[in-house]
Amino acid sequence: MRRILVAGNWKMNTTAASGVELARGVAAGAPAGESGVDVLVAPPFPYLVPVKEALQGSVVQLGAQNAYFEESGAFTGEVSVDMLLDVGCNAVILGHSERRHVLGETDEVINRKVKASLAKGLQVILCVGELLDDREAGRTEAILDEQMAGGLADVDAEALKNVVIAYEPVWAIGTGKTASPDQAESAHAHLRKWLADRYNAESADSMQILYGGSVKPANAKELIGQDNVDGALVGGASLSAENFLGIVTAAT
Ligand code: G3H
Repeated sequence: MRRILVAGNWKMNTTAASGVELARGVAAGAPAGESGVDVLVAPPFPYLVPVKEALQGSVVQLGAQNAYFEESGAFTGEVSVDMLLDVGCNAVILGHSERRHVLGETDEVINRKVKASLAKGLQVILCVGELLDDREAGRTEAILDEQMAGGLADVDAEALKNVVIAYEPVWAIGTGKTASPDQAESAHAHLRKWLADRYNAESADSMQILYGGSVKPANAKELIGQDNVDGALVGGASLSAENFLGIVTAAT
């Protein structure tokens, strides 16, 4: 039985004060570990430390929104995996569509980040997803295959145990246009089959595959209720403790 993960990606939002308040609100309402639902928040880099402090004593995990693959040195503006571990991060989101399509990250760069994170024991939430043009041209599965193969190149079955996949159709991110439960289930089932083919049945069965793209309290239950959907990666709705906890409750 796979656990459910509800992760909040705050993107480039909040202030130090509002982020701490949001984290406190999430911590106060997050369910105990026995619920089978894990909760994670990923604030902007400057707020990792105060948010970690605000989460003290709660079950809510801390994630980062990016990491660099080099260990240290002259890489202005970058943040290493060791730095993230140092401030108490449990996980890092990599390959998000905004990193791919706004910041120009390639599968090769994402793969280097994935490997650097896994090598240090940091859990990776690897995002994959097609553009609207890809979907309309019938290329959804081919794009997912390409991003999975690229992002997970040289990652063996043992290292894969510390990876979570997030399927985020780009056309559903921040648009209010959610993938239908059938569309999500079909993509997730395809991703699981890809994992079975590339790795083995056990790796495929145990992989948590999250859905992301305009998830809100009203649609979370049906999406997460799909056989192959193991939680959600939430953007906009994670900026309100009430909405985010509404999704967590729907998943419980
Ligand atoms: O990482 C989160 C996703 O990009 C979804 O964002 O919930 O605002 O559509 P959204």
